Amino acid sequence: MKIAVLPGDGIGTEIVEQAVRVLKALDLKFELESALVGGAAYDAHGHPLPEATLKLAKDADAVLFGAVGDWKYDTLDRPLRPEQAILGLRKNLGLFANFRPAICYEQLVGASSLKPELVAGLDILIIRELTGDIYFGQPRGRRVSPDGHFPGAEEAFDTMRYTRPEIERIARVAFEAARKRDKRVTSVDKANVLETFQLWKDVVTEIGKEYPDVALDHMYVDNAAMQLVKAPKKFDVVVTGNMFGDILSDAAAMLTGSIGMLPSASLNSSNQGLYEPSHGSAPDIAGKGVANPLATILSAAMMLRFSLNQAEAADRIEAAVQKVLAQGLRTPDIYSEGTTKVGTREMGDAVLNALA
Ligand code: IPM
Ligand code: MG
Repeated sequence: MKIAVLPGDGIGTEIVEQAVRVLKALDLKFELESALVGGAAYDAHGHPLPEATLKLAKDADAVLFGAVGDWKYDTLDRPLRPEQAILGLRKNLGLFANFRPAICYEQLVGASSLKPELVAGLDILIIRELTGDIYFGQPRGRRVSPDGHFPGAEEAFDTMRYTRPEIERIARVAFEAARKRDKRVTSVDKANVLETFQLWKDVVTEIGKEYPDVALDHMYVDNAAMQLVKAPKKFDVVVTGNMFGDILSDAAAMLTGSIGMLPSASLNSSNQGLYEPSHGSAPDIAGKGVANPLATILSAAMMLRFSLNQAEAADRIEAAVQKVLAQGLRTPDIYSEGTTKVGTREMGDAVLNALA
């Protein structure tokens, strides 16, 4: 089993270090190989996703990814910005299925910005299509406007598009996932306005007929945003496009108290996957040793389960995380009165102890 380790920028290096310690403590045979990505790769090699990093990722069974980005790169040309590394990995590895679970741990109910009764026991799974939609649709660019409200003015444009097979395959991923849970799928669209999402809704409905045991409903994205903060526990699996999924998954993350707790998996059709915390590189706290490594540690657990066929080891890690939370250990992002504040490394130590 080969794992490509790409820590990236900001807190990425600190949190990935803790996840690697946890992986190494499992007595499993992995080959771990690290490479630079994002701003760190740009600084060293002039590109956020150097050829060698891409090749390492392609040749691995799984990629453990930290985070990329820093304000200091915001003025670079778009193709050289750190974010292009993650988009390039998604595209080149064909990682079309993004799993973003939002689970509210019992001990963290008080950390949510919503009332405890709205989030206690929350367990929803957002499945975001990750290689299509307005993120990758061509054409896109800037030009002199040929028509519209201000002909001759400077304009910019992107293209929202989905083909039927792209919708079919992500719909199947969602229905299969729902079968292992509460057997309910909510497909989120904007079919009342957009052609792209009328096709989305039609195709998801068709695929749904192959899964008569799974209940399917449809929701417009604006309403879905509202329901997520009004009655989030009503959802089981949510399936949606790249753009809506980006937005809704951040909202869902916050329901759980801290985005610092949430892992994610991005899979292709051969179950090769990229695993990363749902949060970003947090340059404001980088290097301070205070970042929460649990999302990355839980991402490593997802990696063991989905790409490396080591469900038992994944269970062990998840149980260890539960245990440290039960012990009252908290990084600052999830700290509340009466608990014990710890740093990144101490949290890693605690997970290692709980594993042993
Ligand atoms: C995410 C991030 C990325 C995205 C950025 C960093 C390109 O927000 O993974 O949700 O928009 O997909
Ligand atoms: Mg996002």
